[in-house]
Amino acid sequence: MSAGYTVDEWGPVHAIPTFHKAGAGERTAPFGTAEHPIPLIIDSDPGLDDALAIGLAAASPEIQLLAVTTVGGNADVTRCTENALRLLHAYGRDDVPVAEGAAGALLGSIVRATEVHGESGIGSTTLEASTNAARPEGAVALIARLLETHPEPVAIAPIGPLTNIALLLRLYPHLSSRISHLCLMGGSIGEGNTTASAEFNIIADPEAADVVFRSGVPITMIGLDVTHQALLDRESAAALRALGTTSGRIAAELTEFALDRNLEWSGSTTTAIHDAVAVAHLMVPDLVAVAPYHVTVDTTQGPARGRTVCDGLPYRLRRDGRQPNADVGIVIDRGRFERLLVDAFARLP
Ligand code: BDR
Ligand code: CA
Repeated sequence: MSAGYTVDEWGPVHAIPTFHKAGAGERTAPFGTAEHPIPLIIDSDPGLDDALAIGLAAASPEIQLLAVTTVGGNADVTRCTENALRLLHAYGRDDVPVAEGAAGALLGSIVRATEVHGESGIGSTTLEASTNAARPEGAVALIARLLETHPEPVAIAPIGPLTNIALLLRLYPHLSSRISHLCLMGGSIGEGNTTASAEFNIIADPEAADVVFRSGVPITMIGLDVTHQALLDRESAAALRALGTTSGRIAAELTEFALDRNLEWSGSTTTAIHDAVAVAHLMVPDLVAVAPYHVTVDTTQGPARGRTVCDGLPYRLRRDGRQPNADVGIVIDRGRFERLLVDAFARLP
């Protein structure tokens, strides 16, 4: 199913500096319904927007949340693991197992985004401790076990650096066919956010991203081109707070922290909830329009390190004998996205 947007509706997407706009195509990602929820593992580095993405999944009958695994990214991995445990506790989902994964990239130095998300990863929000602990088997083994034992193929939403997913594909190559889809937040057709070339999740581990995009596993890349249209503002935060629940307060605080920072840095009155778009795409078939691209990750040490080079020009792909290896998000309905999030949080305690 395609989201039914036309190429002309790309008008407001200023972030894509390309003369060729690939038209919206049929999505390849599966999606869940209340009758047949999609089995999903979220691999995350919570993270302000990760926390909202996990809340969306935790609240939605279209998703069977099998696990949340963690990776170092926005904050140190031990903090991210503690955040995942505490968020699930606040969301009333202590039934969802958590396991800790890679502390940092496969190669090179560790990149963090604490200037964006705060030292703790979740701004200035404090969360009640969970009585659960992370599973001792670790993130990659837990994902492998779930892939092996779940009766149907499982979708993964990687919303942090791709280190765990690359390790999974290298350690358990026979399980790649058990992944129904990788709906990842990362990359950009256009400009990056950490550097002019690169988006954070990709530059935090470009070699891992390279393994993932070359893997042949079906991928949707929810990059900055679409996530910068998935915006919340002060009114959204007020609507979350007005829910009068613990989860609503948490979501409001996290959103306000991001809004304060954006206002200070750039005068912007909105904040992009990047990671929740990857989860939303697996729940709502016609929310995100995607186009097929061949995505290559720049792993050089130059100024384009971490860039996702997205080629969607049919002539060039034919000439070079390449096939698209990913659906790439291009358009989302902002109002519908905001309602989806607020409605989901309204179902949480
Ligand atoms: C991505 O980087 C992280 O800081 C966010 O959580 C999101 O996954 C956006 O570039
Ligand atoms: Ca993230």
